[in-house]
Amino acid sequence: MKKTPILVAGIASAGLLLGACSGGGSSDGGDGSGSTMRLALNQTEEHPSYIALDNFGQALEESTDGRWGIDVFPNETLGAQAEALQLVSDGSVDMAVVSGAQLENLNADFTAYNLPKVFTDIDHQMQVINNPGELTSELFASLEESNNLTVIGGLTQGSRSVYTTFGAVESPADLAGKKMRVQESDLNVAIAEALGAAATPMAYGELYTGLQSGVVDAAENNEVSYFTQKHFEVAPYFSYTNHVVGLDYVIINTDKLESMSDEDRAAFDEGWAAAWAEHTELWTQATQDAIDGATAGGATFTEVDDAAFSDALAAVAEEFIKTDNQQALYDNAREGQ
Ligand code: GCU
Repeated sequence: MKKTPILVAGIASAGLLLGACSGGGSSDGGDGSGSTMRLALNQTEEHPSYIALDNFGQALEESTDGRWGIDVFPNETLGAQAEALQLVSDGSVDMAVVSGAQLENLNADFTAYNLPKVFTDIDHQMQVINNPGELTSELFASLEESNNLTVIGGLTQGSRSVYTTFGAVESPADLAGKKMRVQESDLNVAIAEALGAAATPMAYGELYTGLQSGVVDAAENNEVSYFTQKHFEVAPYFSYTNHVVGLDYVIINTDKLESMSDEDRAAFDEGWAAAWAEHTELWTQATQDAIDGATAGGATFTEVDDAAFSDALAAVAEEFIKTDNQQALYDNAREGQ
């Protein structure tokens, strides 16, 4: 559902108000009777994640005769991802989309699915994530006891590449001495360094201004984010490093999920399956539209010298697999399970 921007901005800036909601829940549920859940998203209303999850909310409302629904709050209006993670954990917000990078900070096992080249392409990634075997299911449930968070599934971020304010990139040498914005995790710092740059961790919503003001010279993301966030306006050189197939997770407060009756939980699972399918289908077209839109806005898309990046990226993958479980998850994914 579309929100009135002024009202939403007011809610977002009222940190105290969010704090006050903590523990009390955001709505009228908690005992199986249902509620309209609030979902924190950092994307615009044009992004496939907004479209698919907004439709999920409406379908859920219909299939549960209005007992449950989902209100998607776009554009970080409920907080940037690191904050949203905390808010879902404490129950002030019910659901969120968070990047794999954020979950690494709670359980390092998530790192395995964020490594360069763990997934060959989107199809491979979604095959593993949307048909979770034992290991992946355990990973999805691994934050329930510690953080009161359940992962309900994953949405692709597509393949991530570098873009800059200063020119096309062909090899790591072109990024020497340049500051690249990264998502907030150690792995992402190491990836930026492997690409040749110096890393600056920063929230997604701060990046347009960061690029515009010269706080950073470069960033990395998929074409859809590059276009919908309008980053192409301030960083018009997109270079296909394809260093990682990125993964978003949809998370929900575990108590909230467990408060659903069996019948409503079945409706929720069905709604999620449809949302996942819609998102996956929308992604290809959204990527093409983003390339066309950014090109019309003056951006250029160029190929890189893949071989010049591959050794350093492979070394990062090796460095960040530290435990047997991470190795098992990585091997599992490589085998397409
Ligand atoms: C993608 C991803 C987001 C993530 C963002 C980022 O857009 O879908 O979940 O927050 O990249 O780079 O921060």
